[in-house]
Amino acid sequence: MILITGGAGYIGAHVALELMNQGDDVLILDNLCNSYRSTLDRIATLTGRRPGFVLGDVRNRALLDTIFADYPIEAVIHCAGLKAVGESVREPLRYYDTNVGGTVTLCQAMAHAGVFTLLFSSSATVYGDCLTMPIDETCATGQPTNPYGQSKLMAENVMKSMVCSDERWSVGLLRYFNPIGAHRSGLLGEAPTSTPNNLLPYLLQVASGQRAALSVFGRDYETPDGTGVRDYIHVMDLAEGHVKALDALRHQHGVHVWNLGTGMGYSVLEVVRAFEKVSGISVPLVFEGRRAGDIARCWADPEKALSELGWSARRSLERMLADAWRWECHLHEAKAVPLVS
Ligand code: NAD
Ligand code: UFG
Repeated sequence: MILITGGAGYIGAHVALELMNQGDDVLILDNLCNSYRSTLDRIATLTGRRPGFVLGDVRNRALLDTIFADYPIEAVIHCAGLKAVGESVREPLRYYDTNVGGTVTLCQAMAHAGVFTLLFSSSATVYGDCLTMPIDETCATGQPTNPYGQSKLMAENVMKSMVCSDERWSVGLLRYFNPIGAHRSGLLGEAPTSTPNNLLPYLLQVASGQRAALSVFGRDYETPDGTGVRDYIHVMDLAEGHVKALDALRHQHGVHVWNLGTGMGYSVLEVVRAFEKVSGISVPLVFEGRRAGDIARCWADPEKALSELGWSARRSLERMLADAWRWECHLHEAKAVPLVS
């Protein structure tokens, strides 16, 4: 059985679905601070099975000890965390407590229970403002410009030290680039509980009429059209990457870092135009100044994951946007629109 912390959230739920579809049993631990219990019903509808669920906090050591005593957990995928960059600037202690403290507590409970296989939801943010593209795993980690990014880097370093001290560990640090999209059924996707910070969820809310316009943050970057360029990756490709990484960890010890990205960069305007084409909906834009802490460009070299895991992202930007829009339409029962296959 695989324990997924934060498994009711956006990425964890897609990972749970993918693992269950290949026959694994999944137990989700989530305090639902940024997700909904109904996600469990959606996973059950799509897989025909219900994941196990414990409502609780990953920082609660006593609860973790009970979970490891009660369930035959072989490995943990640690997605639980806080992820809003702006909020992390306002409430840094909450971010360090959850993202670093939660990781330490989880690792302590795992070691106590004799479970040494761990996949961690890290982020390309640990590279900071890297000058050369694409970014491979040998690029030095940078100086993340906000407490969220710092907390991811600190958590990575905690796990690296831990692995150095005890060779029984098999740890995978998965550095996600920009996950977007949804399950192609339109029944599972990202469901923000408050105003979205990220490009795609905000754009979807504009397209579905919940918000007036999309702010484009900065049009004077050194990029082809002046707007920020990112490596957007379909959440189902990301989920498949977790399954492959977990398989690899079963056969090797130590700490392993893998970028999960496509290797392709798209600007904000390219994403907007591709979305308009896919959905047939025009997205009103307001050009604003640069967002504090943003970098101009960021895309992965995904070669290491290909050679070591046999994984590469295969879904196109159009597919990511079509699936995301199908999910948004489902969420708001908006009128169906033609979608690419
Ligand atoms: P999400 O907010 O949808 O999911 C996180 C889940 O963790 C939520 O269900 C939340 O309720 C739960 N959670 C938070 N604190 C918890 C706690 N103390 N105890 C138990 N559960 C807790 O976010 P996501 O997009 O699915 O991200 C998952 C992980 O991937 C996070 O660690 C995030 O930092 C990381 N990440 C996300 C992105 C992205 O763009 N979405 C990019 C890079 C890394
Ligand atoms: N952007 C806008 N308008 C918006 C939101 C974003 O123009 O309303 C722009 C940003 O300026 C940036 C691009 O869209 O150029 C992508 O921004 P996101 O907020 O969607 O994503 P980030 O690249 O800033 O960060 C995301 C996650 C981080 C993660 C990182 C990894 O939020 O948690 O990807 O690359 F670490």
